[in-house]
Amino acid sequence: MAAITMKNIVKRYGDGFPAVNEVSLDVRDGEFMILVGPSGCGKSTLLRMIVGLEDITSGEMLIGGKVVNKIAPRQRNLSMVFQNYALYPHLTVFENIAFPLRLAKLPNEEVKRRVTETAELLELTDHLERKPANLSGGQRQRVAMGRAIVRQADAFLFDEPLSNLDAKLRGQMRTEISRLQRRLGVTTVYVTHDQTEAMTLGDRVAVLRKGLLQQVGSPRELYEEPVNLFVAGFIGSPSMNFLPASVDGAFLETPLGRFELRDERKAAAVGARDIVLVGIRPEHFEDASLVGEEKKARGSVVRTRVDVTEWLGNEQYAYVPYEAPADVAAQLRELSRELDSDQLRTQAVVALDAGSLITPGLEAELWIDTSRIHIFDPATGDNLTRDEDRVAQLGRVAEQSRDAQRRAQRDPADDPADGAAEDTG
Ligand SMILES: Nc1ncnc2c1ncn2[C@@H]1O[C@H](COP(=O)(O)OP(=O)(O)OP(=O)(O)O)[C@@H](O)[C@H]1O
Ligand SMILES: [Mg+2]
Repeated sequence: MAAITMKNIVKRYGDGFPAVNEVSLDVRDGEFMILVGPSGCGKSTLLRMIVGLEDITSGEMLIGGKVVNKIAPRQRNLSMVFQNYALYPHLTVFENIAFPLRLAKLPNEEVKRRVTETAELLELTDHLERKPANLSGGQRQRVAMGRAIVRQADAFLFDEPLSNLDAKLRGQMRTEISRLQRRLGVTTVYVTHDQTEAMTLGDRVAVLRKGLLQQVGSPRELYEEPVNLFVAGFIGSPSMNFLPASVDGAFLETPLGRFELRDERKAAAVGARDIVLVGIRPEHFEDASLVGEEKKARGSVVRTRVDVTEWLGNEQYAYVPYEAPADVAAQLRELSRELDSDQLRTQAVVALDAGSLITPGLEAELWIDTSRIHIFDPATGDNLTRDEDRVAQLGRVAEQSRDAQRRAQRDPADDPADGAAEDTG
């Protein structure tokens, strides 16, 4: 096992295009790190530089404290699973898993022991004598995984390993990978552009945009305290709503209505700006008629017209179109394009209680939890209201829950809740 340290890593391809630009990232020993970002942002390139399949233009790559820039892939002792993993069709599952051990010319006894162990871990014991063609997609995926982990590498690198599977299998494999990683405790870097994988698998998530690292943090930190518009819009589904707002003292005038900024810290962050972008997650709206008086007082109520509602049984989405000044609308469209989101940016998506009877086409009162809003500088995209105390607190919580999960995986007798529940206030 080993930590992976990247220092100012740059990758320029032949045409001079920086696919990865000055990325510095510390993956701790035993940590599960997710790399996420839109297509073409440099995720695979970065992963391939870690393994050694791609030269590093400048910067330093360290594995277990040793600079590996000039070290051949074989000597790095890392294991990689690609998106398009290939199994050998003429070999049994046993031999597919055993392949890297055969290459390393390990004695038969040792091969047998390790393959049996790995197969048990991946619940493939009953399939060891079968050929890949006779397996289900999920089983094949597990064989590919088995081939990677049988080697006892210093780190595992995964490049969208689940993207070929259907939704249900992805869900199952996700849980298995998570359990496996915690059990083996091997440093892992996992590339995905799947929201759910990014949020559920990793200890920390690194968000890339056009080769530049935007933010690294626990999933919860990225969700609650994003550093900028890009991360705020990328993490979370449906995405955060961004409303242009003109500042009028302690009030924000938005296309959905005017509301008061009660939080002094946030008001101070706005400073002397006239125009800001207000970020509100869909779940921080509610049908005002369903909100109790006490809670109502914590936020603001706006009157608006709902265009479409989608009732899903356990929850309900409503779409609220609004007018935005042309330049802001253009900026939001651009952001939306970059985020690969098909969502029209001049409509707000709000999540309502499934019991809400708000009707499309009619005026409705929506309550906004203004204590949860973010305010962004429209020029730079910076989050002006990021709460550093909250960030530190979330960091501690993430650390504790990680330790507890690891302990529970290694020693199932341990109570997983032990020590994880503190400091969540
Ligand atoms: N061999 C290459 N030669 C030139 N440019 C390349 C090469 N490989 C990748 N690129 C460019 O580098 C950038 C990053 O590519 P990369 O494959 O790392 O993206 P990615 O984040 O993995 O995207 P995806 O989610 O689509 O897999 C892209 O703009 C791509 O066009
Ligand atoms: Mg890729």
